Formats: sequence, structure tokens, C-alpha cells
Amino acid sequence: MTNIPSASYPALRLRRTRASAWSRAMHAEHRLHPSDLIWPLFVTEGKQVEEPIASLPGVSRWSVDRVVERARDARDAGIPCIALFPNTQPERRSDDGQEALNPDNLMCRAIRAIKDAVPDIGVLTDVALDPYTAHGQDGLVDDRGRILNDQTIDVLVGQSLNQAAAGADIIAPSDMMDGRVGVIRAALEQSGHQDVQIMAYAAKYASAFYGPFRDAVGSRGLLKGDKKTYQMDPSNAEEALREVALDLAEGADSVMVKPGLPYLDIVRAVKDRFAVPVFAYQVSGEYAMIEAAAAAGAGDRDALILETLMSFRRAGCTGVLTYHALHAARLMG
Ligand code: PBG
Repeated sequence: MTNIPSASYPALRLRRTRASAWSRAMHAEHRLHPSDLIWPLFVTEGKQVEEPIASLPGVSRWSVDRVVERARDARDAGIPCIALFPNTQPERRSDDGQEALNPDNLMCRAIRAIKDAVPDIGVLTDVALDPYTAHGQDGLVDDRGRILNDQTIDVLVGQSLNQAAAGADIIAPSDMMDGRVGVIRAALEQSGHQDVQIMAYAAKYASAFYGPFRDAVGSRGLLKGDKKTYQMDPSNAEEALREVALDLAEGADSVMVKPGLPYLDIVRAVKDRFAVPVFAYQVSGEYAMIEAAAAAGAGDRDALILETLMSFRRAGCTGVLTYHALHAARLMG
């Protein structure tokens, strides 16, 4: 002890500010708030229906009357926006996905019911054909199985206008066709929907983490092949920046990175490069992974949820789509 020169003791001690709860709170660089969250909800036909989804423990499909109750729960917990996904009945699915254009489809009925009963919550709607196609792809398919970009855009425009007419606040194209944001933006402008936002799923990867979602919307069993000709290769980061640049140039109000946790580097790169609102989708497989980890005793469930949500904020996200939203908002509140 006496032989050690005093200069070897640190003058700067980063532990000092960590030493007590009040000081940690004071020095926190990021905070979580319910308004950071968007809650994805699955809708199904019927009345007073709750259908649990086996691969997403704790998540259910709700009939329209009950999804309205969930919208109220979200609003009361301070969540600003919900995202809707329909489980279309098999007999309403077709190769051309025309049910997406039906003004009385499940999605539109859910939008109208929520906007009637809970007008002060935002409603985000997914634009892609997979809940409506008999083959489970997001676009139209030719006889050799190729996804037809421009023909698909025509249907996506109709789908977007259909959702906007029903009252959707944010149109979120998740289909990854080239050029769809610009065409959808122009169609919204021309049809009196200037105030409807577009949140582009700009950097959406062909991910192994979407499995439980496909169960939830009923497309897993239908999907032949994969989505690698339109969703991005997980090895690519520069390409994500090009996707984002295009969607912004075409008129996107905000952009999304998806999945979330494995792609936080992309979130940070997009935020640094473009300084626009960036959202991340903590997708179904990530939710299931956290639930499985907690069930296996690998960590405290609430702590795992809040730590992962904080990581999105730290990476630069404006907000996060998460199936944990209601529970997490209540933890934060
Ligand atoms: C469909 C769509 C998918 C998700 C959101 N929109 C699945 C897919 O692309 O196959 C996945 C969300 C999740 O896994 O939670 N266009």
C-alpha cells in the first residue's frame, strides 16, 4: 500500500455518478416513455372473440369489438398509436389479393370502429398483400413464381386509399416493392388525404424472426418459398441507407427498420445519416425469444423487456413497435 504512488489512484471515477439511485436518474441519457411505443394488434372475425396465438404467448387475435377495447387500453396507458393486422378468412384470400380493396374488409371495419370509439389514438395500417393472398406473398406472383413489382404497386395504391378512406392515420407499406412510396404518396395527395402520413418499412430484412407473425395473420402455412427477392439480405447495411434515401425522396414522413434488436446498427446509421424519425419493429420472433428466455429463467421478464426497449432509444429510435407495448407502458407509467 505505502509503496504505491498516489498517482495510480484514479481522480476521475465514473462510478461516482452511479453510486446512488438519485444520481443514476439524474445522469440517465435516455428515458422510456409510453409515447415511445406503438402496439401491433391482430384482428379476426366474430364477436367477443379472443384467439390466443400459440407461438406468441400472451398475444391474441381480437374481434373488432374487442380490438376497440384494446385501443382504449392503449390510450389509457399513454400509447399514442396502434398498428393493425388482419387475419383474413381463407375463403377471402385469392391469388390477386383483391380483398385488400374491399371497403368492408376486416381491416377497414376495425379502423372505423376504433376511430369512432377512440378517436384520439393513432391508427397505423400495414400495406402489403400477404394477409390477403392465397400464396402468402406480399405481392402479385407470375406463373413462374416471380413477384411482379409494378403490378403489385397498383394494388397497393388501392389498398392504401381503401385504408385511408376508412380513417387510417399512418399508411405503412411493408411490401418492399421498389417505388411504391412515391406512387402511394401521389395517390393520397390526389384523393384528399394530404394529412395521412407514410411510415415506410424502408429497411426490412428477409428475416427468420417473422414466423409467429405469419401464424398470427394465417399466412405461414400458405407461404411457398421465401421473400428474399424483395426483402433485404441480412448481410447488407449500405443498401439499407439507399432504401431509406429512396423512401424519403419519395415522400415518406418516417422510416422503419425491421427486425429490431439484430439491426440496431442500421437504426443508428440511418439516424446519423438522415436525421429523420426512425422507428424499429421489435418483431414477433424477438417477442417470442424474450418470452422464452424469461420462461426458462434466463432473466427477469420485465427487466428484459425494458432493457431491450431502452436499447432502441439509445440506438436513435423515435419509437418502437412492440407486442410488449401495453405491459411496458404500464411498467413505465
Ligand atoms: C407483412 C409483414 C410481416 C411483418 C409485418 N408485416 C411479415 C413478413 O414480411 O413476412 C412481421 C412482423 C412480425 O414478425 O412481428 N408484410
